[in-house]
Amino acid sequence: MWSGGTVLKEGTYGCTFTESTLQCADGTPIGTKGIVKLTQDAYATYEMTLADRVRALPGWERYYLVPERSCTPSEHQDKAARKDLKRCLLLKDVPLSEFRLLSMAHGGVDLHRYSILQPAFRFPQVVTQLLAAGALLTLHRLVHTDLHRGNVVVDSFGVCRFIDFNVSLDARSPPKESTLSSQHSLTLEQSAPDYTLVNAVAQGIDPYRVIDALFKKQKILKTMSVLLSYPLPQMKADLTHGYESSESIQTGNRVAWFRAHWHTVDSWSIGVLLVSLWNQFLVSVPDPEAWKASQPLDALRSVVRRMCELDANRRWDAVQALKQWAPSHELLRTRWATEWLASV
Ligand SMILES: Nc1ncnc2c1ncn2[C@@H]1O[C@H](COP(=O)(O)OP(=O)(O)OP(=O)(O)O)[C@@H](O)[C@H]1O
Ligand SMILES: [Mg+2]
Repeated sequence: MWSGGTVLKEGTYGCTFTESTLQCADGTPIGTKGIVKLTQDAYATYEMTLADRVRALPGWERYYLVPERSCTPSEHQDKAARKDLKRCLLLKDVPLSEFRLLSMAHGGVDLHRYSILQPAFRFPQVVTQLLAAGALLTLHRLVHTDLHRGNVVVDSFGVCRFIDFNVSLDARSPPKESTLSSQHSLTLEQSAPDYTLVNAVAQGIDPYRVIDALFKKQKILKTMSVLLSYPLPQMKADLTHGYESSESIQTGNRVAWFRAHWHTVDSWSIGVLLVSLWNQFLVSVPDPEAWKASQPLDALRSVVRRMCELDANRRWDAVQALKQWAPSHELLRTRWATEWLASV
């Protein structure tokens, strides 16, 4: 019987385990109870740097989980840990010496696996939590950039937290061209469409074909259109207008685009998450009409509609969205929020 850790995820940069007995080179266990990430050195260093940055945010524990400790893995692991390592296919190509172990607290189940019908998962509270988590990052010039269901975990009280800051960006010092994605993926629904466009243009791809392809491939845009009462032709016209009025997108200048729109990158992704959760409730609750009547859906629609603006110039960031959704939220009473809201 399998007695070691469980591989939660085999990613591009490493593997994530729970209840792993993996040990550090100094002979100490990295963390049996929590989550252990085995990650290639460069990514681990970046993730730890970002973790320090996140831990400096006031009240961060309420909204995020980041690694607490990192170490070099020991070459001598016990039998269970050796089994863990065997399950990490990346180790077939890259030697263990090029990896680091990161440990962090367990934050629950990610939104891909979580069953949203659990009583602890109350949609209006989840909306507030996701908006506040996004707002705190924006107020402190951090951009997660990869907010999809796998990077949001839910604990037993129904509290959602962001994880996996390994491709996050610090908007205080706009990134170099090389750190911004050079990929344009038509299927990653968490990526803001304007980011997809600027990446495509940078690679010499016809933007109008990309716009057509996005609407063909991304089912979430259709769901968004229905739930937010945002007609598809209007969505397409807005994205086209955003392109035609943006010099940075037209010239494929990702750095200039990021400088102008970094604060709307995560709000797009959170908007997508909220639309997708809303839709999931509708298809999974036993009585959708009763569910609809019990939820503040008109208020939600007006906030999420602004986060899902296809023209990034008109899109709300998470601070603006939180202000509309929960005007008395404590985050909005901070100096940072007052200054931010006065400037946007
Ligand atoms: N602190 C945590 N608490 C609970 N589950 C976690 C935690 N950290 C990671 N996980 C689980 O492990 C999975 C992979 O972790 P993480 O997202 O950090 O790694 P990744 O390989 O970088 O993923 P990605 O595909 O996003 O690049 C998550 O989707 C989640 O299911
Ligand atoms: Mg992840």
